Amino acid sequence: MTHENDKTVATVPPGGTIGILGGGQLGRMIALSAARLGINAHIYCPDPNSPAFDVTPRKTVAAYDDLAALSDFAGAVDVVTFEFENVPAETAEFLSARTCLRPNALSLAVAQDRLREKTFFRDRAIATAPFADVSSETDLLEAVDAIGTPAILKTRRLGYDGKGQRRIETRQQAADAWQALKRQPCILEGLVNFTSEVSLVLARGVNGETAFYDLAENRHENHILRRSVVPAGLASDCTRRAREIGETLLADLDYIGVLAIEFFVVETRSGSDIPSQKLLVNEIAPRVHNSGHWTEAACPTSQFEQHVRAICGWPLGSSERYFDVRMSNLLGAEADGWADVAAQADCIPHLYGKSETRDGRKMGHITQILRNGVDIVERN
Ligand SMILES: Nc1ncnc2c1ncn2[C@@H]1O[C@H](COP(=O)(O)OP(=O)(O)O)[C@@H](O)[C@H]1O
Ligand SMILES: [Mg+2]
Repeated sequence: MTHENDKTVATVPPGGTIGILGGGQLGRMIALSAARLGINAHIYCPDPNSPAFDVTPRKTVAAYDDLAALSDFAGAVDVVTFEFENVPAETAEFLSARTCLRPNALSLAVAQDRLREKTFFRDRAIATAPFADVSSETDLLEAVDAIGTPAILKTRRLGYDGKGQRRIETRQQAADAWQALKRQPCILEGLVNFTSEVSLVLARGVNGETAFYDLAENRHENHILRRSVVPAGLASDCTRRAREIGETLLADLDYIGVLAIEFFVVETRSGSDIPSQKLLVNEIAPRVHNSGHWTEAACPTSQFEQHVRAICGWPLGSSERYFDVRMSNLLGAEADGWADVAAQADCIPHLYGKSETRDGRKMGHITQILRNGVDIVERN
């Protein structure tokens, strides 16, 4: 049983406490935004070195299946949210029965299983890459025959930053890919020849009110987000379609909080020589998202504050954008250049306070204000 529609827990006033599962930079930034609204944040994370612990005294260091610790946590907070989508289903159910979980367990379940997620889109006539369920090597060969190559085999669960994926160029590579992913339940996706990747960050409050940020164009390197540029420069009918898809997902998931949707943009030519843009949904993240970090520098209400407002039953804030921006992640040793970054005019730094630098690890980000707008240099 969930408390999602229980209006008695609809509003968390200043002085109240939100619980956050996960202690990474996203949890840290949600906690910082909560503090600005006079709301406390209690972080629950198994790793004692989590960066979010540095910004709030309220913490639980325990495993996600520690029922005694979860029960105490539920008792100490007014509402629970999460900063990562791989919260175990049992943990979500356990917390839903004791407190208010926002977004709800359904949203988590859909987002953490690529097959369920893609099926959810297909059932709503939301276009995706061609995909097939793969539970055995025989399934995989049939899927390769149906979808063709190149294709990407992805584990249904626990993939992130491109982990848990294998590209299949020829039918002969199928068996190796299946072994490499340890014969786990997978989906096979046709490779999309996209012109760009864009994302939509949006929010829904307890009374069904919605807010949309402008679409960001995202560039990945080694499967990790390198930078986001806003505006994405899409045709207006594509932007409309992205928002329509967003509205559908928010309503059908009975969603509360910030949601991110990743899209592929493909060019289609039908008959005439004039290409038109089409959107395919890649995946959703039931949380604040790396491609929405620019909102803290460029909008009256950041995605983090918006999330806190939504889960606390507050009115949503303005998602208007003041200027064009480029957000770049500081990966690994790049964060060692913090002094240069801090000295740059029009650059807004944000560092996550992580003690250990590792290659490719997200250490911080910078948001650059593009006063003269976005040109081709910024997009590359
Ligand atoms: N079907 C596909 N066709 C083309 N590129 C893809 C496809 N699926 C994933 N990718 C590329 O890999 C990246 C990571 O894949 P994604 O499914 O978003 O997984 P993750 O959970 O790791 O973010 C995407 O942002 C995109 O660049
Ligand atoms: Mg992704």
